[in-house]
Amino acid sequence: MDAVSHEGQQAGIRPVDPSQVSTPGGAVAIQIRLMAIAAAARFHGVELERNDLRCPTDEIPSPAALTDWLRSSGLWAKAVNLPWKPLTGLDLTAPVVLLLTDGSAVLLVANDKKRGLVWIRHSRLAPADPPVALDETQMSRIWSGQAILMRAKRTAASEDAPFSLAWVAELVWMERHAMRDVGLASIVLSILTVLPALMVMTVIDQVVTHQSLSTLVLISLLIGTAMLSETLLGYARRQLILVVGARVDAKLNLHVFQRLLRLPLDYFEHNQAGYIWSMTGLQITKIREFLTGKLLTTMLDLVTLIVLLPILFFLQPVLSWMVLLCAGLIAGIIVAFMKPMSRRVKRFIDAETAKSSVMVETLHGIRTVKSLALEPQQKDRWDARAAEATQAKVAAGRLANLPQMIINPIEGFMQRGVLLVGAYIALTDPGTVAVGGLVAFMMLSARVAQPLASLAKLMEDIGEVRTATALAASVLNQRPESADPAAGIRPRFQGAISFRKVAYSYPNATAPALDQISFGIAPGTVLGVVGRSGSGKSTVTRLLQGISRDYKGIVSIDGIDLRDINLAHLRRNLGVVLQENFLFRGTISDNILAGRPGLTLSDAVRAARLAGAAEFIERLPNGYETMIEEGSPNLSGGQRQRLAIARALVHDPRILILDEATSALDPESEALVNANLAQMARGRTMVIVSHRLSSLTDCDAILVLDQGRVLDVGPHSELITRCPTYQQLWHQQNRHMLTAQQGV
Ligand SMILES: Nc1ncnc2c1ncn2[C@@H]1O[C@H](COP(=O)(O)OP(=O)(O)O)[C@@H](O)[C@H]1O
Ligand SMILES: [Mg+2]
Repeated sequence: MDAVSHEGQQAGIRPVDPSQVSTPGGAVAIQIRLMAIAAAARFHGVELERNDLRCPTDEIPSPAALTDWLRSSGLWAKAVNLPWKPLTGLDLTAPVVLLLTDGSAVLLVANDKKRGLVWIRHSRLAPADPPVALDETQMSRIWSGQAILMRAKRTAASEDAPFSLAWVAELVWMERHAMRDVGLASIVLSILTVLPALMVMTVIDQVVTHQSLSTLVLISLLIGTAMLSETLLGYARRQLILVVGARVDAKLNLHVFQRLLRLPLDYFEHNQAGYIWSMTGLQITKIREFLTGKLLTTMLDLVTLIVLLPILFFLQPVLSWMVLLCAGLIAGIIVAFMKPMSRRVKRFIDAETAKSSVMVETLHGIRTVKSLALEPQQKDRWDARAAEATQAKVAAGRLANLPQMIINPIEGFMQRGVLLVGAYIALTDPGTVAVGGLVAFMMLSARVAQPLASLAKLMEDIGEVRTATALAASVLNQRPESADPAAGIRPRFQGAISFRKVAYSYPNATAPALDQISFGIAPGTVLGVVGRSGSGKSTVTRLLQGISRDYKGIVSIDGIDLRDINLAHLRRNLGVVLQENFLFRGTISDNILAGRPGLTLSDAVRAARLAGAAEFIERLPNGYETMIEEGSPNLSGGQRQRLAIARALVHDPRILILDEATSALDPESEALVNANLAQMARGRTMVIVSHRLSSLTDCDAILVLDQGRVLDVGPHSELITRCPTYQQLWHQQNRHMLTAQQGV
């Protein structure tokens, strides 16, 4: 017996009054429920963070919200409804959370099926207190019947597996039960489709020759039934294909998007959106179409072939060989054309990709295109690409036409030629084939060529899908930002930052962006960062956010190495405002809250006040409910920027980074933001990057960078006397004041 339940056994049976362990609803009950979940998670070595729970603070968290909470921290979790018996028989290797009717929860730590008892522990009780034992009636009074099971994730989940053909195959394989049903339906269907032909044969051979009316009636009935079930089964088959296809499709989509989001920012900076789209989105569409369309239908056609061939051979072996030969010839021709064909198809696809990237680029940069009057140039580029795409398409179509031409007569011979040969056989050797048999053969043999041809085509498609998978994999299998999203510690930040001998070079860069940088600041410091353009200011903030991870040296927050901190946790505890900030389509309050769990409108208002955005928001006709359109044309730059600052502040981050946040603003908006800086800085560490020194004079310390090196750190008053570069920058920017002073 394991440690948990052993503890319970030791405690002995001490049934207690249920009122002792349950607390009436409300905030306390919710708190107890969360504590119970957190305690159980701690058992698996996971510290949960209240912020990750997606549930309003005043609502009793639902089982679904709780499991989502656990999953977000990398645990496997499931909410179940348990009857009493299974509860007593549960295999308890770790505590199970039982949700009580009053909104709280307890931990189930031991159970005994024979005696019909469970031992529970109240998360409020001191850990030293023994668990209490309850029986069925006592439990039924307090327990809702719901339990939350959790465990550490055992294996690398399928979302971590590299994207490959094998992975895709596994995806299909997971749907094998549904596929088996499709297969069975197809076999039945094939048999049913064969029936009418055989019946026609009987009608002609028996009824017509012997003129027996009763047989005709019987056969008509049979044909009617066969047709009816064929219709129904056909419907069922299409339905199944639809469901299987949709399921595979959904999984593929989810997986791809998730993987894409896990790629580091670097990757998106170095590759154009158009390229990434054509490498993933387009390829995935191709893979999906193959899996849910051609693959399934061809497989099903093949089943038909397996049923069909024996019957054909039974009817007339010589003719069957002829049909097979023709079908084989057709398949062979298709195979022969596959290679050159796929080359042309590839050229066509490349041309299409190039074409669409011109489109994407133009739309993306339409402001620049219009204001620089670049329309003619863009149009020329588009025309050239479009012409190339058309040409490639014609070339591919022309080549595809050729095998079609060769195949046509073979197909014709398969039908009419076989009839002639069959008639000849019937004439010369009347015993072997009757007229009815010949007709039935004709009806069936038409179905042989098609599956064989589509099988050959399938080979080609598999080649294409393999290429598509490889292309998509080349993007999706890039090293993700962090190998395990749940790994790392989640400390509560104070805000001390230290860089020790940090060096960083961007991939493919010749000179290092940061070169042996060392500095440290205490919690609550307002640090200004100055330096010429390209001196590494933004790079410092990128390292701090864990965007660029391949640096040398040590970056730490509160003495904890950044590499040991959970990446999502780190970013959630930072607030970042850049020069250009993306506002999402939605209301102003949506944009400030940015979907962060557990925050309400009052948080948005508080953040907006702090950021100096409240006054303009309140002047808008719809206030916080004003819609922001794509590109936010209804807001000025300064307003946008203040919204972005509110968004960065709404979750009260311990560390706030402003990277040239006010540089693009007009002096008035800049002054508005700067006026609020002191207020914003209260209770947090701030890193303010700016090339405008005058806005940094009030900082506790200013870091002066040059060519990736630290020249000096200190307050303005010291730097102005001792740091030549700082002096130079200062005088450059404040020449007007200098001349004014001299003038006096
Ligand atoms: N994504 C990137 N890829 C490659 N090199 C970069 C990238 N970002 C910045 N750099 C280079 O790193 C150096 C420092 O850049 P950065 O930190 O952005 O400077 P600053 O913010 O001070 O203007 C510059 O030489 C710049 O060219
Ligand atoms: Mg910069």
